Parts: sequence; structure tokens; C-alpha cells
Amino acid sequence: MEKIAIVVGARPQFIKLSPLIEVLLGKVRLIVVHTGQHYDFEMSDLFFKQLDIPYPDYHLGVGSANQATQTGRMMVKLEKVLLKESPDLVIVIGDTNSTLAGAVTAAKDNIILAHVEAGLRSKNQKLPEQINRIVTDRLSDILCCPNQSSMDNLKSENIMRGVFLTGDILYDLIARINPSVEQTSKILMKNKLEEGKFVFLTVHRAENVDNPEFLKSLVSGLQGFPVKVFLPLHPRTEKNLKKHNLYDRLGANPVVQISKPIGIIESLALTKSSLGVITDSGGLQREAAFFGKKAYILRDETEWLELERCGMVQCIGHDLKDVEFNWDDYSSPGDDYFQKASKKIAESIFNYQL
Ligand code: UD1
Repeated sequence: MEKIAIVVGARPQFIKLSPLIEVLLGKVRLIVVHTGQHYDFEMSDLFFKQLDIPYPDYHLGVGSANQATQTGRMMVKLEKVLLKESPDLVIVIGDTNSTLAGAVTAAKDNIILAHVEAGLRSKNQKLPEQINRIVTDRLSDILCCPNQSSMDNLKSENIMRGVFLTGDILYDLIARINPSVEQTSKILMKNKLEEGKFVFLTVHRAENVDNPEFLKSLVSGLQGFPVKVFLPLHPRTEKNLKKHNLYDRLGANPVVQISKPIGIIESLALTKSSLGVITDSGGLQREAAFFGKKAYILRDETEWLELERCGMVQCIGHDLKDVEFNWDDYSSPGDDYFQKASKKIAESIFNYQL
């Protein structure tokens, strides 16, 4: 194996790119392709800067569009890069439209495909992420599963070849950049927050924030919330709050502190010093678990079953009303759960036999 292309495009993928580069660099020629799915400074370049990741070799500049249009535009541009570079293998990460575009294009061009974060499944077959996962896993030659439940999911779909239990690559990143006490207290001070005295809230998933009823109930559920809430806003969330005339009402709530999107170092520092998190993000619930913080999930289900089983993650549906928050009510999934994964991912790639 001489040349590997990694396709990324959205915020959670930039984070996982960093440990992947670390483990692959020097062993193969690496080409990083950024689809441009996320493009604002706070959604993209900030992560390259904070994590000291080399700027991508190719930036496709695709930007936002409807689901199929966005994915199709990525594929058209990506195919040109793959034909020119002719990598031996393509790596895709997670479940975004950039993942799907990378997977379909690599498979169509007969390039070996590796999927990092394979095997995760939702019960809701209509979610764009679920469609992306199913297609990507079907097409992948190497499937790197973050946990046993994702292995089980693949088995139940009869996907057994090239499947590896590697662990969750997010924990490699946390081990690398876990913010120090000084960094954390600076970030707390900058945001006028006190250790253990605020809840870290994020919400960005289309099925939540594209629904005005959800936004209305979120804004009213936060009225009189018993503890301060720190809420960095994803652009999708901010645009929808403004569109439905809810942004000013939310901003006027003295309990809620709105911020622009924050970087990964700030996010980890605030997670570890929060009382706990409320989120619909797949990444934040795992980061919270690493720091022993409980995550209440604004969804009916989570793909992270091991964390749900031990109570670190608890789904509360789409409404804050009538939820009894108990921030200490959980046990640990065990230290093994938080092991690093990137070495095993690299091994599964380099040991791959056609
Ligand atoms: C995408 C992923 C989602 C992931 C999330 C992480 C898909 C189908 N969804 O959702 O799984 O959890 O990324 O953040 O791939 N926008 C900006 N600036 C940006 C990027 C987006 O303003 O830099 C706005 C645009 O209005 C855009 C909207 O956000 O239309 C949604 O962006 P998009 O990339 O389509 O999906 P996400 O909601 O970010």
C-alpha cells in the first residue's frame, strides 16, 4: 500500500483526521481531500488550526445544498481527484454526506474502501446519517467498528468480511489534546463560567432544528432552567431560530448563554468542567462519557448503546419539560471502553489482503 486518500468535509471528521494522520504519516503517501461541506471558519479551519493538521491537499469547495445535490456535487469533483491521484485505498469517516460521497466514488472507481466508525445504526431508517451509514458499510472492504454493538449490527446484516473491532478513534484525540487545568480555567474565565455550575447544551441535528415545534419547545423549556446553560450555536440552528423569530427570545433568557460555534479544545474543556451535557450530538455524548459526565440526549435513541446501558447516556426525547435531571446517576462502561483505536485501524488497513 503506497498511497491513501482520506475524505473529510464536516466538523466531526476534522477531529478524527488528526489521530489518523498521526498513525499513517510516514508509512504511506497521504492525500487529504476536504469536500467543503463545512466551510465557515468556526466549522472548519479552526479545527485544522487547533489540531495542527496540515491543510488538505484538495479542497472541493462544495458548500451547502440539498442532500442529493450536495452529495452528487462532491462525487463529481472527488472522482476527478481520485482518477488523478489513483490512491490504493480511500478512508471515509462517520456518517455525513462527505462519507457517502467518498464511499460511492471510491467503490465506483474500484478503489479499496475503509470505513472508520462502521456499523453504527439508528432505528430510524429515514435519517440522512442512517442512509449514509448503510450504503457506506455495504460498499466498504475494511470496516473499523468503534464498539461491540456496531460489530453486532454488521453481523445481523450479514456483513462479516473485513470487519474489525478497533475502538473509538475519538478517544485517541482526547488523549492527545485533553485540555490542561490552566487551559480549562482560562476557557472558563473567558466564557464567564464556573466549574460544575453550568450545563453544556448543543443541538444541531436536522430532525430537531429543522422542526419549528422542537425549537419552540426548546426555547420555552429553557425558561427558568435551574442552572446556567452554555449553548454554542451550529449555523443550522442559528438560522432556524432566526427564521422562526425565536433567536431574540432565547437570547433574552438570563439562564442561557449563547455563543458562536466553539473549537474542539474549548468544547473538551467545557465538557470536563460542566455539570453535565444535554445534546443531540454523537460526538459530545462520547466526550462527556470520557470525562465522567452524564449526557441527556435530545433524541428517542442513541447509536452508542454501551454508554446508554450504563446510564452515562440517557435519551429524553425532544422536550426538556418534565425531565428529572440527575447528573450522578450512572456507572462506567469500564476503562477498556476508552482505549485508543488508531493503531488498530492502521493495522486493519495495512493487513488487508485483496
Ligand atoms: C452535518 C451532518 C451531520 C453531522 C453534522 C456535524 C450530513 C447529512 N449531516 O450536518 O450528520 O452531525 O454535519 O456538524 O452530512 N452551514 C453554515 N456553515 C457551515 C456549514 C453549514 O452556515 O460551515 C449551514 C448551512 O445553512 C447548511 C446547514 O448549516 O445548509 C447544514 O449544513 P450541512 O453540512 O448540510 O449539515 P449539518 O447540519 O452540518
